[in-house]
Amino acid sequence: MIRFILNGADVTYTGNPEKKLLDFLRNEKHITSVKDGCSDQGACGACMVEINGEARLSCLTPMKKVDKTVVNTLEGIPAGIRDVLARAFVEKGAVQCGFCSPGFLMRTRILLQKNPEPTREEIRHALNQNLCRCTGYVKIVDAIAEAALKLRLEEK
Ligand code: FES
Repeated sequence: MIRFILNGADVTYTGNPEKKLLDFLRNEKHITSVKDGCSDQGACGACMVEINGEARLSCLTPMKKVDKTVVNTLEGIPAGIRDVLARAFVEKGAVQCGFCSPGFLMRTRILLQKNPEPTREEIRHALNQNLCRCTGYVKIVDAIAEAALKLRLEEK
């Protein structure tokens, strides 16, 4: 039996321990912010989730690895913070087709929790598992820097 916390709620899972967390989230929990962008190759970051405060690729995470952990998807981020992040991405032109955006937003949330005032270099480094085919990365880095600033200002 695998037990964990998903977006603040207790979950008990008794199915195949090798099942991918990505498939569990999408098909059993109907959490559709996590995407399969690279056929489970671990190459795109669209399936990114937070596990015990760390960025993890749910397509490479079997259910047995989430036992006794705390898992968050975009849906588990407090709405006020999620809105600040999403607005910054829209305002800076960091969203085009939007398919990769949930993964970038998750990565942003995890980065800013650990480092509320990242340099552009630190932001770029944090994005090394996330791919975007539309925007290029400059606008995404701009958006994350803007989101970090807004969240810091909100705290004051
Ligand atoms: Fe997981 Fe692409 S679907 S990295």
